[in-house]
Amino acid sequence: MATIQNSLAFAQELIRQVLLPGEQAIDATAGNGHDTVFLARLVGSKGKIWAFDIQVEAIKNTEERLEKENLRQRVNLLLQGHENMAVYIKKPVGAIMFNLGYLPGGDHSIITRPDTTISAVKSGLKLLRPGGIMTIVMYTGHTDGGTEAAQLKRFCHTLNQKDYHVLSYCFLNQQNHPPQLLAIEKR
Ligand SMILES: C[S@@+](CC[C@H](N)C(=O)[O-])C[C@H]1O[C@@H](n2cnc3c(N)ncnc32)[C@H](O)[C@@H]1O
Repeated sequence: MATIQNSLAFAQELIRQVLLPGEQAIDATAGNGHDTVFLARLVGSKGKIWAFDIQVEAIKNTEERLEKENLRQRVNLLLQGHENMAVYIKKPVGAIMFNLGYLPGGDHSIITRPDTTISAVKSGLKLLRPGGIMTIVMYTGHTDGGTEAAQLKRFCHTLNQKDYHVLSYCFLNQQNHPPQLLAIEKR
């Protein structure tokens, strides 16, 4: 097995180190539910996950996956844009995951958009507890994804280093635009 992990695996690795049993966490892009299941396992039976998606199909797929894993009780599933997360979540969270782009196996024209993504990232950073972490997996292989990634990086440059550590993780020598990761730790 390679020592250097891909962006998705490394995002999970970072969150595993930080998120505690009994905490709350957010899956900002539920999609097919893989990250929701991952987070729900980590917080245990006393924790709570908030999972957002704007597509009925994604919410349905995530719900099915959670039921199969017997984790449905731990998750508030919301057919809502992540930019509205502050309307629902009032307590600090230990981790927030974004996995941008389109629903695999779904409609490729429905994608995350820079404005709503950055608005959600700003809300999420307010909700993160000290020591908590936000991961953002970005896909630059399509034009809109490249624009979104560039805008997110520009936004991250504006975050004060006294308040946040920001990591940019990507492969420099791979073809086909592998996913890139931003990780933001609240100090
Ligand atoms: C790459 S998929 C997520 C994959 C998912 N994390 C998984 O483990 O299967 C991106 C998802 O973001 C969703 N999305 C797009 N805009 C959104 C928004 N404003 N708020 C929440 N979800 C959004 C899409 O509908 C799509 O399902």
